[in-house]
Amino acid sequence: MKIAIYPGTFDPITYGHIDVLERAMEIFDKVIIAVARNSAKQPLFSDDERVEMIHEVVKKYGKNVAVDGFDGLLVEYAASKRAVAIVRGLRAVSDFEYEFQMALTNRKLAKKLMTVFLMPHEKYTYLNSSLVREIAMHGGDVRDFVPPSVARRLRKKAKELS
Ligand code: COA
Repeated sequence: MKIAIYPGTFDPITYGHIDVLERAMEIFDKVIIAVARNSAKQPLFSDDERVEMIHEVVKKYGKNVAVDGFDGLLVEYAASKRAVAIVRGLRAVSDFEYEFQMALTNRKLAKKLMTVFLMPHEKYTYLNSSLVREIAMHGGDVRDFVPPSVARRLRKKAKELS
């Protein structure tokens, strides 16, 4: 069984991430969405909230998709899950340098673990989680960017923080 890890902060998960996930599901038998707990970012949603939100969104895919939180090095987490690949989305040239550096560093740390880049649909190339958070925190409509359950949680968070 070919297992891939799709890691990220997912603060929150967007339609762009889901697009990448669906493409990864075409290639791998199982995709584990790995939510980084030790992200250098200061997430709006807690670790548990991010995992829960993703669960709600991906449960329709059944057993081929799992959601988990992880600490520490990604390559070690991937080895613990017997994954053969890391999946990352590549949206625009601006993503390349950072992704290139991460992929080569991870390869140095774990030779056999492949990093696979997948391009989301071009309609998502401009999308990222920061923009979605910003729009939501200012009371804007994010329904074109995130699934309804995520939009609801963003609205609730905006109310709590206002
Ligand atoms: N659609 C929409 N947005 C997307 C996207 C897509 N397909 N792909 C990426 N993004 C956005 C994210 O929303 C995020 O936006 P933001 O910065 O505005 O929040 C941004 O691109 C990048 O985030 P993400 O893909 O979640 O990755 P990340 O950079 O937050 O995560 C880790 C990086 C967690 C994978 C990396 O830090 C890691 O592996 N950490 C573990 C420790 C480790 O092993 N370090 C050594 C690594 S070499």
